[in-house]
Amino acid sequence: MLLALHPDWQTRARAEVVEICGGRPPNADSLNKLKTLTMIIQETLRLYPPGLSVTREALQDTKLGDIYLPKGANLFIPISTLHHDILIWGPDADSFNPLRFARGVSGACHVPHAYVPFGVGARSCLGQYFAMTELKSCSLWCSPRSSSSCPRRIDTRPF
Ligand code: HEM
Repeated sequence: MLLALHPDWQTRARAEVVEICGGRPPNADSLNKLKTLTMIIQETLRLYPPGLSVTREALQDTKLGDIYLPKGANLFIPISTLHHDILIWGPDADSFNPLRFARGVSGACHVPHAYVPFGVGARSCLGQYFAMTELKSCSLWCSPRSSSSCPRRIDTRPF
């Protein structure tokens, strides 16, 4: 849907796939070289994180900066809210702009730890590298063979 609304990015992704894969099946090397596709996926996971939140329980009395967490307290970390904070991402936080990831996550925002589509720390998503490989492989197969367009402007503002 986002690529249908942004044909310029659709064209860039397709050109990259054709240039790097040239009709050959993907391998670890070519998947690593797909920078535009990676940026598009990262931006999509920022705007629409499939996991809306992660939770943690304090197993002992803990101090996080100025915040005191008694043993047993539950922390609710709203991923979507972090991903749309204009103080972290700038005034275009709600816009689809894959270019913000051109210099990786640390170049995309003021607080890199606020980008957490796969969660954070020791219990972060076990399948994140597999998921990224899968997402790239699927997009890679589709992009040279099909194109999508959206006949009218639809509201894709994040929830
Ligand atoms: C786009 C795809 C995916 C997204 C956005 C996603 C996101 C997440 C998130 C947010 C968590 C919670 C992490 C935390 O609490 O810090 C999680 C946990 C987990 N994910 Fe994924 N995930 C994806 C795909 C997958 C796949 C493909 C697999 C397995 C093949 C997988 C396996 C797991 C497992 C096992 C955990 C629990 C890890 C633990 O508690 O130690 N995920 N994922």
